[in-house]
Amino acid sequence: MKESSTIFLFLCLLSVVAFSSAADTLAAGEFITDAQTIVSARGEFAMGFFSTKGNPRNRYFGIWFNKISNRTVIWVANRESPISNTSGVVRVSSRGIVVSVNQSTDSLWTSNSSRSVKNPVAQLLDTGNLVFRDQSEPQNFAWQSFDHPVDNFLPGMKFGYDLESGVDRYFLPWKSEDDPAPGNYIHRVDKNGYPQLLLWKDSVPWYRTGPWVGSGFSGIPVLKPNGIYTPKFVINDKEVYYVFDLVNRSESPITRLTLTPGGVSTRYTWNREKQEWSQYLTLQVSDCDRYGICGSNGVCNVNKSPRCECMDGFSPKNPEDWEEADWAEGCSRNVPLECGNGDGFSKITGVKLPDTRWSWYNRSMSLVECEDKCFKDCNCTAYSNTDIRNGGSGCLLWFGDLKDMRGYSEDGQDLFVRMPASEFKRSKNSGQKTRVWIILISVFLVLAAIFCLFMLYRIKKRRINSAGIVQLNSINLAATDTDESPDLDLPLLDFMQVANATDNFSYNNKLGEGGFGAVYKGVLEEGQEVAVKRLSKDSRQGVNEFMNEVSCIAKLQHRNLVRLIACCIDEGERMLIYEYMPNKGLDSFIFDKEKCKSFDWPKRYNIINGIARGLLYLHQDSRLRIIHRDLKASNILLDYDMNPKISDFGLARIFGGSETQASTTRVVGTYGYMPPEYAIDGLFSTKSDVYSFGVLLLEIISGKKNRGFHHQDHNLNLVGHAWRSYNENNLADIADKVILESSNEHEVFRVIEIGLLCVQEYPEDRPNMSSVVLMLSSKIPLSIPKKPGFYSERRKPNDTTSSSTNHTSSSINSYSVSFFAPR
Ligand SMILES: *[C@@H]1O[C@H](CO)[C@@H](O)[C@H](O)[C@H]1NC(C)=O
Ligand SMILES: *[C@@H]1O[C@H](CO)[C@@H](O)[C@H](O)[C@H]1NC(C)=O
Ligand SMILES: *[C@@H]1O[C@H](CO)[C@@H](O)[C@H](O)[C@H]1NC(C)=O
Ligand SMILES: *[C@@H]1O[C@H](CO)[C@@H](O)[C@H](O)[C@H]1NC(C)=O
Ligand SMILES: *[C@@H]1O[C@H](CO)[C@@H](O)[C@H](O)[C@H]1NC(C)=O
Ligand SMILES: *[C@@H]1O[C@H](CO)[C@@H](O)[C@H](O)[C@H]1NC(C)=O
Ligand SMILES: *[C@@H]1O[C@H](CO)[C@@H](O)[C@H](O)[C@H]1NC(C)=O
Repeated sequence: MKESSTIFLFLCLLSVVAFSSAADTLAAGEFITDAQTIVSARGEFAMGFFSTKGNPRNRYFGIWFNKISNRTVIWVANRESPISNTSGVVRVSSRGIVVSVNQSTDSLWTSNSSRSVKNPVAQLLDTGNLVFRDQSEPQNFAWQSFDHPVDNFLPGMKFGYDLESGVDRYFLPWKSEDDPAPGNYIHRVDKNGYPQLLLWKDSVPWYRTGPWVGSGFSGIPVLKPNGIYTPKFVINDKEVYYVFDLVNRSESPITRLTLTPGGVSTRYTWNREKQEWSQYLTLQVSDCDRYGICGSNGVCNVNKSPRCECMDGFSPKNPEDWEEADWAEGCSRNVPLECGNGDGFSKITGVKLPDTRWSWYNRSMSLVECEDKCFKDCNCTAYSNTDIRNGGSGCLLWFGDLKDMRGYSEDGQDLFVRMPASEFKRSKNSGQKTRVWIILISVFLVLAAIFCLFMLYRIKKRRINSAGIVQLNSINLAATDTDESPDLDLPLLDFMQVANATDNFSYNNKLGEGGFGAVYKGVLEEGQEVAVKRLSKDSRQGVNEFMNEVSCIAKLQHRNLVRLIACCIDEGERMLIYEYMPNKGLDSFIFDKEKCKSFDWPKRYNIINGIARGLLYLHQDSRLRIIHRDLKASNILLDYDMNPKISDFGLARIFGGSETQASTTRVVGTYGYMPPEYAIDGLFSTKSDVYSFGVLLLEIISGKKNRGFHHQDHNLNLVGHAWRSYNENNLADIADKVILESSNEHEVFRVIEIGLLCVQEYPEDRPNMSSVVLMLSSKIPLSIPKKPGFYSERRKPNDTTSSSTNHTSSSINSYSVSFFAPR
């Protein structure tokens, strides 16, 4: 008995000794020189000296991913004191880790541990954490690099406060690609009021994620469970921090959230096959993400122009500035609050919750208690739940002006804003009573709604059954219950139904041949007119994957997008059923000598704006981030009121698989609308769509096709002609004569310039769609466009009408290019 426990003790000691002298540690008396590195136990991370590309003389001590070919540094010690030669050494002292120059007593950097230790060791863990501790205490760190982050947020790292020890972990990104010293930005958890993440630039709030609302941050579209990582925000008496963990440490790809020198947070995942980082998610995507762009009590909305609106019951403080798109002064109440005089709350939905630095919270209160609490405090201006999961819980109160709100369609939260009695037209002293009435009426309305839905469901079912064919299966795989909200479900038709609707895909019903397949007009049993897209069979996706994509696309709803109303997966066929657009494509108007005459400037301007907004919506919705890849006049359909609707979006996803910015060997697009980087290198991004949009814009204004453009003076295409006219200060030469009669010349010229900005040769020079929408809707000054891409290119004259080329392929630089005729 005694013997065995001695052996056990001995083994323990042995393992401690073996552990401490392992290759991942640096013990007293040992050095790391410039040429040496230390690698963590399983080889995940390495530490040592490095230089940046642009500045090879300066040496820094840091940590990087060891298994990634392209060195990605995640942490730097002596960021402000580089060593200008290779005589740097790293050692440990009882106070911490020391970076210095050999044989110098001055240290360049020390880790400044909270306490000194007897037998100091530094150890690099497989999480990327460099810890300083006593040899005998493997779990008790006197210092750790995870408490002093630089610009990379890794799994398991805590971003925020330890309220007991006072440790505050925040990010100070590099000054530039080649200078690891702290730059202008700082990203930290702000624990004033209800905690939130705030990015500051030069001590001014720059970007705010919004408070944590249970499943994510209020300002970021809800993150779906993704199989890679799960984020969490912890708030308790001891700690306030944000953290994420990998779903499965051995399976999930390497991922990190990085703050660039320019202050943009981007999440990357490592793509093992391509051996490169791919962008997974980017925060701060639109100008609405700029802190407080709409001022106090203003709401920013990327899908609206102008961007900023006052909340109901508020008006611009300075209407003139507001008109000029200078919204900084914000909005004030139309009628001042008269506390306790019958005031109440009006609900606004779908917003990013206002800045919580002036807030109070209690996470166990209910919404009713919350309203009561806010109602009783005359300084309380708004309230909401702190957690939106499971019907909502918790209480968050705001005091004073409401700042930095954003409105968006699907993902925002409900906010209840205090309003004076006159805004409700209610009688005095009725606060409590009204609320009882509201509750009673709501209960009644809910019951009535349930009853109506039930009846509707029964009627629908009966009608379908009597028609004898339609079986409305739900494509929403998770939702088989009929009491799921019906609007998200996409009806699934069978082959026979679609064949009947289109008269067996008869030639007479064929509307055209677009990218990815033929399109037919059809009439469903119920009499609804539809357009049926019969996808060509080279989509290699599995059925589930296809259905997932399609149901995602169906959820994209915007007034400038053609709506998907059903789909069909049957008999080896895949078909998408869209709403029918009687006015056909934009090409049939702008390029038609007769029809274009009735197409005056207001109509064209409205169409340009609509396309811009639709495209912005596609690019902006961070959950999908659709790149259209085949934007052209024939893909813009017009409804009865001549409103433009983008069609064929999301199809590239179905065919091309993943949609992160990447390169592809299969270039899909239409010649004349393709930017150079896309046609030549197969690279696509949202900026390729911006290029196509620019071409389209010039076509709409000139009434001429980019390809097939002729001018007696030169051999340029339309883009080239526009560029030439711009440089000759002769913009009137570009515009269709019809529109110059119906417009203010300057407005047309401004829009042409915006078009030229969009077709610039280099993608990084082109504006993103949110800037385009902003430029179109305001008078902000424009930058000077640079040379466009592809402007001097001249094709053979007989190559100019693409309407006769169906699915021909040719090859440019070994990439296959498919030409699709407009339909
Ligand atoms: C490493 O990554 C950087 C930034 O992503 C890139 O510019 C560079 O070309 C890459 N280098 C190698 C060798 O892959
Ligand atoms: C290396 O550079 C440091 C300053 O960075 C300097 O103090 C030291 O003397 C230099 N050593 C050699 C050998 O040049
Ligand atoms: C420090 O410099 C001395 C003399 O140049 C050299 O002998 C020694 O090896 C160096 N030590 C380290 C850790 O580089
Ligand atoms: C460590 O402490 C010293 C003295 O308090 C200070 O000068 C130095 O900047 C600190 N180093 C770091 C890395 O915080
Ligand atoms: C992680 O993935 C591995 C390999 O697929 C599997 O064996 C393991 O059970 C997974 N672990 C968890 C926690 O899901
Ligand atoms: C929070 O609200 C709950 C429920 O109303 C209450 O029991 C608790 O005391 C409140 N906590 C604080 C700190 O106000
Ligand atoms: C409301 O705010 C004013 C000024 O900030 C303060 O003096 C007053 O005490 C507050 N009232 C309540 C009920 O908190």
